[in-house]
Amino acid sequence: MTHQEAKERIAKLSADLEKYNYHYYILSESLVSDYEFDKMLEELQTLEKDFPDLQLPHSPTQRVGGTVTKDFKTVKHKYPMMSLANTYSEAELREFDERVRKLIGNNFEYVCELKFDGVAIGITYIDGKFAYAVTRGDGVQGDDVSNNVKTIRSIPLKLLPGDYPAEFEIRGEIIMDFKTFEKVNAERVEIGEAPAANPRNFASGTLKLQNSSEVAKRNLNCFLYALHGDGFSFTTHFESLNKAKQWGFKTSEYSALCNDMESVLKFINKWETKREQLGYATDGVVIKVNEYQNQQELGYTAKSPRWAIAYKYKAENASTQLLSVSYQVGRTGAITPVANLQPVVLAGTVVKRASLHNADIIEKLGLYENDFVFVEKGGEIIPKVTGVDLAKRAIDALPIKYITHCPECGTELIRQEGESAHYCPNETGCKPQIVGRIEHFASRKAMNIDGLGSETVELLVENKLVTNIADLYDLKKEDLLALDRFAEKSATNLIEGIQASKNIPFEKVLFAIGIRYVGDTVAKKLALQFNNIENLQAADNNALVATPEIGEKIAISVQQYFAEEKNLSALQRLKNAGLQFQISQEQLALRGDKLKGLIIVATGTLAHYKRDEIKAVIEQSGAKAASGVSSKTSFVIAGTDPGQSKIDKANELKIKIINEEEFMEMLDGKGL
Ligand code: IVH
Repeated sequence: MTHQEAKERIAKLSADLEKYNYHYYILSESLVSDYEFDKMLEELQTLEKDFPDLQLPHSPTQRVGGTVTKDFKTVKHKYPMMSLANTYSEAELREFDERVRKLIGNNFEYVCELKFDGVAIGITYIDGKFAYAVTRGDGVQGDDVSNNVKTIRSIPLKLLPGDYPAEFEIRGEIIMDFKTFEKVNAERVEIGEAPAANPRNFASGTLKLQNSSEVAKRNLNCFLYALHGDGFSFTTHFESLNKAKQWGFKTSEYSALCNDMESVLKFINKWETKREQLGYATDGVVIKVNEYQNQQELGYTAKSPRWAIAYKYKAENASTQLLSVSYQVGRTGAITPVANLQPVVLAGTVVKRASLHNADIIEKLGLYENDFVFVEKGGEIIPKVTGVDLAKRAIDALPIKYITHCPECGTELIRQEGESAHYCPNETGCKPQIVGRIEHFASRKAMNIDGLGSETVELLVENKLVTNIADLYDLKKEDLLALDRFAEKSATNLIEGIQASKNIPFEKVLFAIGIRYVGDTVAKKLALQFNNIENLQAADNNALVATPEIGEKIAISVQQYFAEEKNLSALQRLKNAGLQFQISQEQLALRGDKLKGLIIVATGTLAHYKRDEIKAVIEQSGAKAASGVSSKTSFVIAGTDPGQSKIDKANELKIKIINEEEFMEMLDGKGL
């Protein structure tokens, strides 16, 4: 394909993908199947790889992420990001209405909108294109999280044609829907991390992730609700929402014009229950004076506009009696206290249990045995205990005493400084920990051993057939047949499944062995960086943190893992059993040979490497890093904003130009 042909094809694919994206995420209708969409996106990605100089900053491929931001730049807001006055009471709402009427008379309208429970964002568009996105921060300045926000598919990178000014800002709320929240939170728990408390916190944490491709996987969404700038053609807030929608933004379909307080209250009452069916968290209704002229007359206090107010729904709560506190032990030994409650109906479901999180929370609540407690369901799915009804406490009641010993194995619990959780240190003798670790080892994303679900693991552990992951490889069919649950076929299947796992690649083995904080992505990075387990074991802190995306916390955890004798002996047994502890020979061979003797030029800003880092990587792989393009150059790695003269020279000499991802694939042995 010629350069010109590629340019035309890229333009066509980009335009089509943008259109399909808009219809899917904004208008909720699909024009093509997911398969067709993915194929086109793939074709575009390949073309952009082959012709990096044709990659445009607003290409639909930006949605998949790939950039890494180490420090988010602080940006001053052009218009301060204020908050809203809020109220929980109808009476105060009526007072607000009276204040407004006193100042602007009776000839005006309100707009009622849902109040989304997410993270505020301000996005600036210049010449109809996404320029940058900034978090609220302290209201005066926030963080530039552009690369992460670009992965949110309902946020347009390019606007549809329209009468917008050359530059303007649009504000809205980034949210994570309940379904995604539950799914991604469960994945977190699986790798031993503390679950996020609610979708808002999760969305907020996601926006601050350094790797935008991780953000892309989190399926964030965004509703936009305010325009700021000069030169708009409309004069009311309601019109602005319609315009924003026409330009390609996702606005809420439920915003409504209201003539008076009665219709405002109707809107509020309707959504109090209806909001439960939305699939995302809302915590109230925002009431705004519609006309800009009126807004201007009403003005602002130091903190918030006088032309708007948020009516917040009280979180649904109920009072019930605490029956007991039980304590769960996780795979890492972390203890979670759980309140067992007299069943009570809350937001339409029967609640019997609520998490108490840790000892500090229990102490803060001042919880006594058999207390009557208030439970609440807010943005989060799991209800929480929010307070104690002291009036109902029995005179002879005693405070809840946090356990000192593990409820499963009796070992004395420990609590490390700075950590909120208590831990059972009896890693090798405490059943839920043993079972949890083996379950994790066998799970789909790890060794993917068929037939080794939680019930089977429990059975094997109870019968002392396995006590750690290495024991699995000593299991014999006869051992299984001795148990009632197993018949010839199921026993054969399990043994075969275990044998087959010996071919599972190193990166998955590294995830499976359960080093704390080493999730599947981190395991992959470590495997590619260190090639084999011996190198990883020998790596010091500097070497570990030099790995892309590996921070201090993971580095320390890796070193602690290798410092423990029992881990080393389990590893030795797994090695003897024949598991993969190095990246495959083909990958290694490719890596060494392919780059040997090559002369490589890097230009532009790269996401994963600084200037001297890329030079070191090139040289470590046996190639030479050159600064100028000549006929001897093997290929050019082009980042963003590459040196135009280098690109021109490379094109002139017909020297291949690749992008960073492609170079990294070469290092992994997949490329060339
Ligand atoms: S308008 C001057 N509209 O709630 C502030 N805000 O508690 C104008 N929020 O800062 C904001 N839904 O982050 C507005 N429909 C909506 C909203 C909304 C959620 C957030 C926003 C705001 C906060 C105030």
